[in-house]
Amino acid sequence: MRDHIDIFAAEILDHQEVAPEHFVMTLDAPSIAERSRPGQFVMVRSLGTWDPLLPRAFSIYHADAEAGCIQIMYREVGRGTQRLRLHEPGQRVHLWGPLGTHFPLPEGERVVLVGGGVGVPPLVYWATYMAQLTVPMDVIALIGAAKQEFLVGLEHLRRARAEVRVATDDGSAGHHGYVTELLPELLEDGRASVYACGPMGMLAAVSRIAEAREVPTWLALEAPMACGMGACLGCTVPLRAGGFARVCTEGPVFPAASIAW
Ligand code: FES
Repeated sequence: MRDHIDIFAAEILDHQEVAPEHFVMTLDAPSIAERSRPGQFVMVRSLGTWDPLLPRAFSIYHADAEAGCIQIMYREVGRGTQRLRLHEPGQRVHLWGPLGTHFPLPEGERVVLVGGGVGVPPLVYWATYMAQLTVPMDVIALIGAAKQEFLVGLEHLRRARAEVRVATDDGSAGHHGYVTELLPELLEDGRASVYACGPMGMLAAVSRIAEAREVPTWLALEAPMACGMGACLGCTVPLRAGGFARVCTEGPVFPAASIAW
């Protein structure tokens, strides 16, 4: 049975540009903040307009049950996020969630996070969540971006006691190349759990590297979503066992080995 989903007009408490083209929106959403878990997402749509018609799905970046608010991070890439960017604190957006599955607890105490582009937010939430567990985790976060200015969430990861290593496509910070090139050496002893979110090509590479070393790996998939509730079938991914899964309801978190790349 589906968990309860809250749908309401949420007040924007804060809205900041945190990097070029990247924004963090803080929303007054006590019921979502209380029940959400890392990996889950919300749907957001501007109020008072039908342009664009469809809502957008955003991974939860932070959830503070005590303060009763959640944060999403997004990159301004299309019509929906261009319109969202214009919203100011005090205005409201149509919000529903929390939606989808969440990251399961790691096997063992060593965790590697792999994030690319706007795949970083759920990993920041996950690192923050793990930092509050009674069993201390040894967390290494591999974060990739096209260039240094687009590296986001690093301070939050460090605050959650994660060791952060970065990679950029243009070599302006950290490793010059793909973030996945940093992964193999961390998995040689096979004693880690891997969690990743980012572009599908990056996730496919993470999956290949981790599977070859028999490391348990969980991916938070991104897909175009029109409803977020399993009704439109617009977000399906092919499964290795055959058939398809809806990212919005069976996911977004999947075992890497379950996806047919
Ligand atoms: Fe409609 Fe997933 S977004 S079924």
